[in-house]
Formats: sequence, C-alpha cells, structure tokens
Amino acid sequence: MISSKPILFSAIQPSGNLTLGNYIGTMRHWSDMQNNYDCLYCIADLHALTIQEKKINLKKSILDTLSFYLACGVDPNKSTIFIQSHVYQHGQLNWILNCFSQFSELLRMTQFKIKRKIEKKCAKKTNVALFNYPILMAADILLYQTNFVPVGRDQKQHVELTRNIANRFNSLYGNIFTLPEPLITQYGSKIMSLLEPNKKMSKSDFNKNNVIFLLDDIPTAILKIKHAITDSEMPSKIYYNIEKKPGISNLLEILSAITNKNINVLIKELEGIMYSEFKNIVADYLSKFLSKLQKSYHNYRYDESYLKKIVYEGAIQSQLKSEKTLKNIYDKLGLIPLF
Ligand code: TRP
Repeated sequence: MISSKPILFSAIQPSGNLTLGNYIGTMRHWSDMQNNYDCLYCIADLHALTIQEKKINLKKSILDTLSFYLACGVDPNKSTIFIQSHVYQHGQLNWILNCFSQFSELLRMTQFKIKRKIEKKCAKKTNVALFNYPILMAADILLYQTNFVPVGRDQKQHVELTRNIANRFNSLYGNIFTLPEPLITQYGSKIMSLLEPNKKMSKSDFNKNNVIFLLDDIPTAILKIKHAITDSEMPSKIYYNIEKKPGISNLLEILSAITNKNINVLIKELEGIMYSEFKNIVADYLSKFLSKLQKSYHNYRYDESYLKKIVYEGAIQSQLKSEKTLKNIYDKLGLIPLF
C-alpha cells in the first residue's frame, strides 16, 4: 500500500507507570492523528535503559505501555505499533548519527541538564547514554523519513537537534533525511505537578501526590485533585494565567483535555464558583474518564498473546521501512551492504 499521508512518529519511554501528563500531552491525540497521518507509535525501551532503577520491571512496563496505546485508540490496522529494541536499525543509526553530533550541542540540552542535576543531588554518576539520549531520539525519527513529531514544549529542543543533525548529514551526502517538524498543541502539552505547579508532572516524582497515574484507583485520584494547590487570590476567581495562577491553570488544562472543551468555554461555565466546587467538578470528570480508560486497558493487558502478535507485525513493518533508509546511508558513507 502506498500512502500519501505525511509520516508521524511518536514514542514513550516505558519507565514505570504512565501519568495523566503522558495522556494529555501525548497519547490523547494519537487516535485522531491516525486519520491524517501515516503513524508510527514506538515504545522506546532502549531509552528506558538510561534509567537504572531496579524497581522498574521493564518487561511488565513495556506491555503496560502497549496496552495503554491500544486503550487510547491506537489501531494496529491503521498504524505501525512497535518496540524500539525489536528494530535493530535504531541502534545502528544511533551510532552513525553519533559521528555527526557535536559534544557542545548535546551539552546544551535542557532535559539532560535537569536530569544531571537531579542525579548529582543524589550523588549518582551520570551514564553516557543519558547524554546521548537525544541522538537515539534523532535516529528514531530520521529512520522513517518522519514529517511530524508530536511533542510537549519540553521536547521541542530534541526535535530541533534532530533537524540540525539531519541538515549536517544532508549537506554532506545529499537529501537523505526528511527534516521533521514538531507538532505542539496550544494547551495541555505540559501538565504540571498538582502540589508544585511550576514543575512538570513526572512519573519519577518522589511525591506521588504530585502525579495522577493512569492506573491510580479512583478514590486516590479524587483525593489528589482535592489536595491540589490553588492560590490565595481574593475573591477567588477561575481563569487561565500560568504565571499568576499556575495551580488553577493546570486544573483547567486537565479539565479541558478530558472533557474536550475549550478552556475559554469552561471559564465561562465556571464563573462565580468556589475553588472547592471547581475541584469537585474536575475530580468527577476525571474519575469517569479514568474508569473508562482503565477498563479498556485491562481488556488488552489481559491478552498477552494478542499484544505479542501486534508488536511482531509492527516490528516486521518497521524493519522494512527503516532498512530502506539505513541501506541508503551505508551506501553514501561508503560502507558495504551485505546484500
Ligand atoms: N523521549 C521520549 C520520552 O521521554 C520518548 C521518545 C523516544 C521519543 N524517542 C522519541 C519521542 C522520538 C519523540 C520522538 O517519553
């Protein structure tokens, strides 16, 4: 089948439990995107190896993540769903792109700086893979001649780096790589922590009350919303302003994402109500949303032979696609292809 739709690549690292932030920032859009793009949805298990935490059961986490992809409406008949480590071309291109990446540009990556700072605080040594992480991302993206990468604001820099590496390569060897563009949605691309709304909601947060996990049981999720921080503006008023009202703005983003309603429409509807009432509304919608998603998730998660069939087929498709790019690169670099 020859497809004329633009190619879209997206991935999540299976490093523990997925959060509401992952859903709203990334996975929420995946189902609809299948109508407009030729989509590849990857489980970035090699990236997850950069986090050496014994408590993560990687095998389980990979299948959990896959089940959530399906529960969010990713359809194996429309999209390619695969596990990164099944497609060896990713590791191969990663090495090649290492040779076209600069130490200084990687040092500038904000996410690396943040992760390194956290590791330093815990007196942990930083592994080289954490530094090289964005180059493997570049390989993921460039192997498939990707046109678009849906990312949160914090990942935009990695797509820019990918473009720089691709440009550098293209200027030496001709038009080998398509230059990918980031797709960023206006609201909800970055959900913040519930108690510290100035930092991103993250699955690795030490304080679990900062984070709604997609597998949180409903009473726990409701409590977390009820404890979320707001502000002390008098009289209290609900509107969107990230600097002045980070807590309320974050709750508005959450509500908007799970109800599919525009933030401005919500603000009108919520006029005059108190913060506690607002939180009740968010908690109510969230519990309905989570119950439905979890039910679908469990249906998929239960059927491991079906999950394995999907990733097997996905791996074959991705290997075929990525091998084309890799062969071309080998040839241009002067490496000798085996066949
Ligand atoms: N870094 C992404 C995350 O933290 C996962 C990822 C790996 C990715 N490769 C990618 C995202 C390529 C976009 C494109 O979840």
